[in-house]
Order: sequence, then C-alpha cells, then structure tokens
Amino acid sequence: MSTEPPRPTALITGAASGIGAALARLLAAQGHRLILVDREPLPPSSDCETIRADLTDPDDLAVVEDRCRSGLDLLVNNAGFGHPTRFLDTPIEAEIAMARLHMEAVLRLTHAALPPMLERRSGGVVNTASVLGFLPSSTYSASKAWVINFTQATAKMTRPQGVTVMALCPGFTRTGFHDTARMDMTKVPGPLWMSPDEVAEKALRDFAKRKSLSIPGWHNRLIAAVARTLPPSLTIRLLATTDMREPAR
Ligand SMILES: NC(=O)c1ccc[n+]([C@@H]2O[C@H](COP(=O)([O-])OP(=O)(O)OC[C@H]3O[C@@H](n4cnc5c(N)ncnc54)[C@H](OP(=O)(O)O)[C@@H]3O)[C@@H](O)[C@H]2O)c1
Repeated sequence: MSTEPPRPTALITGAASGIGAALARLLAAQGHRLILVDREPLPPSSDCETIRADLTDPDDLAVVEDRCRSGLDLLVNNAGFGHPTRFLDTPIEAEIAMARLHMEAVLRLTHAALPPMLERRSGGVVNTASVLGFLPSSTYSASKAWVINFTQATAKMTRPQGVTVMALCPGFTRTGFHDTARMDMTKVPGPLWMSPDEVAEKALRDFAKRKSLSIPGWHNRLIAAVARTLPPSLTIRLLATTDMREPAR
C-alpha cells in the first residue's frame, strides 16, 4: 500500500496562457494535481483534469462552481480580459461580460470553494486583480478594484481559520492580454515589464507567506503606494495622458 500523502488539488481559471499557464507550471512542479479551466479546449493530459468553460456563461460557470464545491486545496481565479475601447464606445454586452468574468465568477467560485477549506482549516484562494485596481482609469480598473477590496475583506474573515485568500496585482506582464485588447504598448518602457513566470513565482512566494495582497515588482509596489496617497482628481488627470487604447473606429 502507498504511504505517499495525497497531492494537493489546484483549480486555475484562464489557465491556457499567460499568468495562468505560468502558475499552472509552477504548481505542477510543486506537486499539485491540476484542474485547468479555459474557454478554449485545453490539450488532454494524463496528469491533469481540464474543463472547457466560458465563465461568462451561467451554465458553464455552474459546472466549475460544482467542481469548487467538491473540495480544492487552491482556487486561482485568473481569467480576465481588457476592452479595446473606452466605456461609451464599448457595447454594453461586452461590459457585462467583463463584470461577469471579473466579479460574478470570482464571487461565485470563491463562495463555492471556501466552505470545505474552512472546514479543513487549510487551503486558499488567489484572485488575480491588477495594479490598475488602485487607479480609477476604466471599467477594467473598476472591476479589479472590486477584486482587491472583495479579496482583502474575505481574507480578514478566513485568516483566523487557517485559510489564505490573496489578491494578486500584476503590472505590465508580457502575455497575450494586450494583443487581445488591441492596445498599443510600444511606449511602455522595457523595465516596467515582467514575465508571467516572474509574476507567478512572486505570487506563490507571497501566498506561502499567507499575505492577502501580492504586488510583483518594486515599480508596481511604488505605483500602488503612490496611487493610494495621491488625491483622486490628480490621479485621474495623470491617467488621462496614458490611455493605451486606440480611439474608437
Ligand atoms: N498581462 C498584464 O499586463 C496584466 C496586468 C495585470 C493584470 N492582468 C490580469 O491577469 C489575468 C491573466 O491575464 P494574462 O495577462 O495572463 O492574459 P492572457 O494570456 O490573455 O490570459 C487570460 C486567460 O483568460 C481566459 N479567458 C478570457 N475570457 C474568459 C472567459 N470568458 N472564460 C474563461 N476564460 C477566459 C483566456 O482564454 P482565451 O485565450 O480563450 O481568451 C486566457 O487563457 C487577467 O485577469 C488579467 O486581467 C494582466
């Protein structure tokens, strides 16, 4: 009979690419059994379970919610996207899809995953927000501000029961995110960029330290610290000079 302890199980949304894929590689290397969720079908693997789900679709979301309810050691709510256009140039359906993915899916999956973790007094949740969540720049940043606020409030509640809930706030990270959002990033200086592997490594180090907030990169920590001290009116004026989205077509 095997005496090996059972492998911890991690479910990651938006696991096909970018930061989600980097987290999946690291968690697999640490011995986790993976459940990878993405909108696109993921290649089948003997070593992990895959779920094809568009998390803005209520039926697909319910399938992933059930999987979370059945007991996980780690939930990573990472799936996300940016709009190519400003608020009033964006179809309301696209705004609602973002609100569903960044807020409703994070809310529902966290709500489903936490009770078994709290019962066992172990495990945790990582919610990928953004350093933009500290800056009032768009509906994207507003949704990520919600993720930070929700995550920190939940972390305060679960911490005494041994369950870590952490908001991950990356800055500019070299993934397909900006191409999908059709953003022109050519003016962003090289030193401000991080790789998805660097972001994922810092996230898991901070999670192991039971932090409720992880901001990879000293420059991003500086941006977040300044954003929290500047008057909102000044932040809004500064941000108006740095919009990377193309004008409406
Ligand atoms: N890259 C950055 O500079 C940056 C900075 C701060 C925060 N973030 C955040 O980091 C997270 C990961 O983004 P990334 O940079 O790694 O970009 P990415 O490579 O584009 O990854 C995003 C993942 O989310 C998935 N996804 C999008 N909509 C979905 C839906 N409706 N249902 C299920 N999955 C969906 C995508 O699948 P498809 O391929 O099918 O679209 C993709 O696998 C996001 O929450 C993003 O907001 C990124």
